[in-house]
Amino acid sequence: MSTLVIYSTLTGNTRKIAEAIYEVISGEKKIADVKDIINIDKLEKYDKIIFGYWVDKGDADERIKKIMEKVKNKTVGAFGTLGAEPESEHAKKCMEKVKEFLEKNGNKVEREFICRGAIDPKLLDKFRKIGMSGHHASTPENERRWAEAAKHPDENDCENAKKIFKGF
Ligand SMILES: Cc1cc2nc3c(=O)[nH]c(=O)nc-3n(C[C@H](O)[C@H](O)[C@H](O)COP(=O)(O)O)c2cc1C
Repeated sequence: MSTLVIYSTLTGNTRKIAEAIYEVISGEKKIADVKDIINIDKLEKYDKIIFGYWVDKGDADERIKKIMEKVKNKTVGAFGTLGAEPESEHAKKCMEKVKEFLEKNGNKVEREFICRGAIDPKLLDKFRKIGMSGHHASTPENERRWAEAAKHPDENDCENAKKIFKGF
């Protein structure tokens, strides 16, 4: 069995989880950042593929989606990181979208995981400066959530991801 872990990251959160998962999968394996896709052998040659995405406006980021849409009829896994709480409706919807997107091409999504990831401080500063409203407003409640997200992914998140993908 050969397995590819392919992930996309802007600030490194998703890479952390990808590396944790890579540690616990069995058989012949390879890990790669989507930016290095030109160095990856053909995707078809892998028996299984695990996709790692960061949530961008309620969906997997575009870079990983470009790779996802090339994969057909495989056994796959998907994991993501996002700023919101992993138990939130928002997180659940993101996971569902990703699952549907992969299943559209006949892939079987066998394992899934999502956890929080620190939001880029530059983006948060922008929200504060612009005086965003709603979900992105610098309210005490949102500031608290952003500060909580800033602690992730942590050791516990990595362990939880490992538990889900162990032996995949
Ligand atoms: C442009 C942009 C859009 C984002 N959109 C969302 C979103 O819709 N929902 C959410 O929960 N987090 C969102 N985030 C937060 C990221 O998903 C989160 O910080 C993630 O862990 C980043 O992963 P990375 O470090 O691998 O790039 C967004 C971040 C950026 C920069």
